[in-house]
Parts: sequence; C-alpha cells; structure tokens
Amino acid sequence: MDYQAIMEKYQHVEGGLLEAFHAVQDEINYLPEEAIITAAKIFNMPVKEAYGVATFYSYFSTTPRGKYVIRMCKSAPCHVAGAEAVTQALEKELGIAVGETTKDGKFTLEFTECVGQCQKTPVITINGKPYLGVEPAKVAEILATCK
Ligand code: FES
Repeated sequence: MDYQAIMEKYQHVEGGLLEAFHAVQDEINYLPEEAIITAAKIFNMPVKEAYGVATFYSYFSTTPRGKYVIRMCKSAPCHVAGAEAVTQALEKELGIAVGETTKDGKFTLEFTECVGQCQKTPVITINGKPYLGVEPAKVAEILATCK
C-alpha cells in the first residue's frame, strides 16, 4: 500500500498527522509500522514521536484488525443498561473474546469508552457507525449486515 500517497495530502494541514493516521486506518483498519515510519518522514518528526501518537489514542491500533471493528461501549451508562450481556452475545456469536480478531480476519471485538450516544444505551459501533439500544437478541441480526 502506498502510505505516502494517502498521508501526504495532510502534510500542510493543522493536526495533519492525526488526519493522516485516520486516513490509513480507514483503509486497512490499523497502522502498520511502515505507515508510522512514512508518517515520521512526511511530518518531519522522530519515528518514536509518530509512534507515540499512534499508540496514545485508543482509536488507533498498531496491530492488524478485522475488516469490521466492533467496539462495545463500557462506560457507566452503557454498563448499567446491560453492556455486559451484549458483550457476551458478541463473543458467543463471533467465537472470540474482546481484544481478538476472528480467524477469517473479518471481525475484531474491542471495548471503547463513551462514544457520545448515551441517549439510547447500550451502544456498539461497527467501523465507527453507532448502533443504539442494542439487545443481546439483536446481535446476530446486526452482525449479518456486515457483508
Ligand atoms: S456511555 Fe456508552 S455511549 Fe455513552
């Protein structure tokens, strides 16, 4: 993948490094080492600094993830609304634990802090798209929409 081409359009944008990392992650769902090294060159900073940014934000991942990244909100409002039962349903349906990726590389399951959709909890996101008021019984149906 041509990380340079993806990232250099953010070179002169304020906060460009974050934008560049988002752009790469939107493409392949994680930030490989090669992309971080390329970013350091483009943004003229030490590699360790670029790496520090990539690992500071929980939104970014430096390990490969599935095509669909499912994030279960674990903040208090979702927790009291039954996030644990939804987490269990997701783990059962996917056959993986939180923090893992399915063998076929299709799904990764992670926790997230509040995603600002507390009006109807519990909440999951799939590649950033929020699903509100998720019930365990609806998990299979929601996953089936990921083609
Ligand atoms: S607490 Fe879960 S979305 Fe806000």
